[in-house]
Amino acid sequence: MELIVARNRADLVKTRGEGRVALVPTMGALHEGHRALMREAKALASRVVVSIFVNPLQFGPAEDFSRYPRTLEADLEACREEGVSVVFTPSAAEMYPPDRQVSVASGHMGVIVEGAVRPGHFDGVLTVVLKLFNLVQPDIAVFGQKDAQQLALIRRMVADLDLPIEIAGVPTVREDDGLALSSRNRYLSPAGRRTALALSRALFAGALESVPSRIRAAALAEIEGADLALDYLVLVDPATFAEVGESHRGEAILAVAAKVGTTRLIDNAVLRLP
Ligand code: PAJ
Repeated sequence: MELIVARNRADLVKTRGEGRVALVPTMGALHEGHRALMREAKALASRVVVSIFVNPLQFGPAEDFSRYPRTLEADLEACREEGVSVVFTPSAAEMYPPDRQVSVASGHMGVIVEGAVRPGHFDGVLTVVLKLFNLVQPDIAVFGQKDAQQLALIRRMVADLDLPIEIAGVPTVREDDGLALSSRNRYLSPAGRRTALALSRALFAGALESVPSRIRAAALAEIEGADLALDYLVLVDPATFAEVGESHRGEAILAVAAKVGTTRLIDNAVLRLP
């Protein structure tokens, strides 16, 4: 089957058809992490729709919207290789007419941890994801655990707004040395890339401990001395992103964010506390 590229909503609507549809929302600059999502989508549905849209709404004024990597031809080739049926790649004007005013409010979970560093970010994410859900009308949508708070907020939106869509999460894909794949890794200098390894090292060190205070301390020890600007290193509840207490049992997410040079990186690990 040939890949269909839909650049506006009219073309997208024409691609609607029979069978179970899985949506993989992306901002392009596709890498192996995105491909893992496409493969999971393919396993879960008969047709896979990938959206490629660098969403201006989720970037702050001082963030990297204009220099975010745009590699459409290579992205389309990756989608072809993964057996994707449709790529939806709308323009900003198509998604956001000048008279728009209604958007999704992400609530408390949208202003803590990552949301505290990026005001408005999660409102922008949820607004575009809800629009994509309405345009594509998928049965299931696939997201990466790499953006753990985003995934938790999308699950919250689906529950709170009664969206008739299943959400699937895919584990974080990493380089052999531990660095989580990210479209932003290409901005790292060779030295910056070595520095960035402190993030995954911190998560792996934390994961060897079983009590919150020791998890945080072991992780921090790997960051201290590294040439980076730490935004946060927290141990949180996977569903609410509230920091867990010392007596917490069960799943917790150890999440980290830092700037390495001018490149901002995030990573996390899912831990099970005995
Ligand atoms: P983007 O950063 O392009 O990521 C698209 C999807 O790929 C997200 O679900 C993200 O969690 C997943 N992903 C990225 N790197 C990954 C990795 N190393 N392993 C596994 N999955 C990975 O996230 C966004 O775009 C946007 O916020 C979006 C949801 C498209 C809304 O604009």
